[in-house]
Amino acid sequence: MSAKRIFSGIQPTGNLHLGNYLGAIRNWVRLQGDYQCLFCMVDLHAITVWQDPAELRRNTREVAAGMLASGIQPEKNILFNQSLVPAHAELAWIFNCVARMGWLGRMTQFKEKAGKHKENASVGLFAYPNLMAADILVYKATHVPVGEDQKQHLELTRDIALKFNSDYKTDFFPITEPLIFGAATRVMSLRDGTRKMSKSEESDYSRINMTDDADTIAQKIRKAKTDPDNMPATVENMESRPEASNLLGIYAALSDIDKEAAMRQFAGRQFSAFKQELVDLAVSVLGPINSEMKRLMDDPGHIDAVLRQGGEKARAMAEPILAQVYDIVGFLKP
Ligand code: AMP
Ligand code: TRP
Repeated sequence: MSAKRIFSGIQPTGNLHLGNYLGAIRNWVRLQGDYQCLFCMVDLHAITVWQDPAELRRNTREVAAGMLASGIQPEKNILFNQSLVPAHAELAWIFNCVARMGWLGRMTQFKEKAGKHKENASVGLFAYPNLMAADILVYKATHVPVGEDQKQHLELTRDIALKFNSDYKTDFFPITEPLIFGAATRVMSLRDGTRKMSKSEESDYSRINMTDDADTIAQKIRKAKTDPDNMPATVENMESRPEASNLLGIYAALSDIDKEAAMRQFAGRQFSAFKQELVDLAVSVLGPINSEMKRLMDDPGHIDAVLRQGGEKARAMAEPILAQVYDIVGFLKP
């Protein structure tokens, strides 16, 4: 086991989709075994925008089920929900006092989520990246596997670690590295190849959910937006056609080949023939995950027990690190 320590988080806000699977969860499955890994359902982050309490509980279990069904092994890793470990919120407070307003004001996720009504956004939504830095640094994690969209937050995590270390003349916090994986780090909407596939897009036809059954997957792929030409035969042509490029990217990621190889395989063929192959592939990968998720969701008590055990392991790791931070900052010992 190497000295690398991996932490990653996912918001339990419903509709786990193919982007979450290809951009995050599948990569996490591949990291376990080689590294010490913590995987966290970030429920404290989720409530930065309104969550119905019953839905939040259900979604937390569903995301956990998605990870377990995808092959995350709870015995080898630490799988838990964030609110089980108070040290995240405690360290986040300290980081609220390290990070500067200007740094947070530049975060694109805040700007996107707050939209035109910044004054109406929760304070938590603004401070979100500080809590994310705390998630990572309360374990002194060295590597964070995420999709492209989280890069800016990880840069902020580094800035916070650097400023803390420099303010307190210490080298306590590691400077965390992002781990961004090659293929399909950005899965785009099936309705618009220039927008990210996301939980929050209104149309369910824009995404493939990990809870979709085979028929739904097939229907969504068949209805996915394309253009009138046949399949692209050159990289330039592919890159200038966002929908074709996205579907080929998905095909490549699902079959673990690179996108150019996928392009060559279908060059010049009709979209309908390609889509049928994509349906078969997507169903063969996601079908078994989907049925295992359903099985797990029928036994919420089991999921809760797995998370509680993860929470205990996580607390044992985080508490001594937080105690050292309190000491560095100058708080009296308890
Ligand atoms: P979120 O759903 O925003 O909590 O994201 C959870 C994880 O999935 C993060 O690592 C994201 O980077 C990743 N992710 C979310 N949407 C996509 C997407 N459309 N393509 C690739 N990765 C994504
Ligand atoms: N902000 C991440 C997202 O929306 C989720 C997250 C919270 C996270 N804390 C984290 C990811 C720590 C990696 C590490 O996807």
